[in-house]
Amino acid sequence: MKKPPTILLTGGAGFIGSHTCAELLHHGYELIVVDNFANSTPRVFPRVERLTGRHIDAIYDVDIRDRHALSAVFDRHSVDAVVHFAARKAVGESMQLPVEYYDTNIGGTTSLLRAMQEHRVHRLVFSSSCSIYGDAGRGPLDETTPARPTNPYAASKWACEQVLADVCRRCPQFTVLCLRYFNPVGAHPSGLLGEVPRGTPGNLVPYVAQVADGRRDRLSVFGADYDTPDGTAIRDYLHVMDTAEAHRVALEHLADGPGMHVFNLGVGAGRTVLEVIAAFEAACGSPIPYQVVPRRPGDVTELVADPTAVERAWGWRATRGLADMCQDAWRFQQHNPHGYAGRAQQRAYQGATP
Ligand code: UD1
Repeated sequence: MKKPPTILLTGGAGFIGSHTCAELLHHGYELIVVDNFANSTPRVFPRVERLTGRHIDAIYDVDIRDRHALSAVFDRHSVDAVVHFAARKAVGESMQLPVEYYDTNIGGTTSLLRAMQEHRVHRLVFSSSCSIYGDAGRGPLDETTPARPTNPYAASKWACEQVLADVCRRCPQFTVLCLRYFNPVGAHPSGLLGEVPRGTPGNLVPYVAQVADGRRDRLSVFGADYDTPDGTAIRDYLHVMDTAEAHRVALEHLADGPGMHVFNLGVGAGRTVLEVIAAFEAACGSPIPYQVVPRRPGDVTELVADPTAVERAWGWRATRGLADMCQDAWRFQQHNPHGYAGRAQQRAYQGATP
């Protein structure tokens, strides 16, 4: 019988990474995870293993900028392809710490490329972001929309895309599938995996979830004076399970042909902040108190994907709606009010492999 492919995931302990680990294990892949746990915890892995009834082959506490440590991981395993999630991702923080963002996101990516090249691994799925489009105006954005990053986080992702495109041009053995995520939210429907922000949540859905369970008094809605139907900003929210599934489908298409291929990952429908609040209220059954405050610097009016390219290429599209995203996020919040550090988790953590 043919050996299942071995996938190395950088940042495999993170929000999208952990859901992708579960999806890939479920589909028979062998996994190697590299993570420095800067914004995540190895406590997620026993849950991933419990959910899937399978083991992750190896988990390394390694910073991807550490070329020697990263190379040693490749020495020890026969890797077929890499999914590169590891990055800093908070837009606001990137304004304060631009050097850290460029170092981790760009330096980490070139360090990974070097290790891949040295070990003749030439297949990569790369996490990019819709934030590279910047303030692109109204209507669905396709992949030809010019990049106009407005903060160091977005600029670092755009720089990585350019590096990867150039590497693919000059080294034809490389295949890179670059996925531009819109707004992944939600959680695994089991309630075992979800988004665990450190400190005060910076993103909308995790904040709303903490208001719903009483940990925070009220949500601040950043601006109700946008040119939108209810005045609040519009985003394309995508279930994290669809996001994870898209990575599995991407791996199935790495052999389609060399070069760099860029795809939006979104639903193709925009939702306002007030619509998200209403959907969460329906999911949790109680009102979400909120107050309107001034706009958040750097926010744009609308970011909605044109998701047709990925459907044309792979026959894949997101299937889960906003109600699923809110119900699953709420279930995770209820079961894990303290993230992966709570009592239920300590039981599950026994037998962790990192
Ligand atoms: C940003 C990035 C995205 C990145 C994501 C994860 C941009 C354009 N997008 O998404 O690429 O992957 O962060 O870090 O930079 N909001 C409130 N109150 C809150 C929090 C958010 O009203 O407490 C509003 C925001 O103003 C925005 C919407 O909710 O309109 C979504 O915000 P958020 O969840 O932070 O994601 P983005 O900023 O869209």
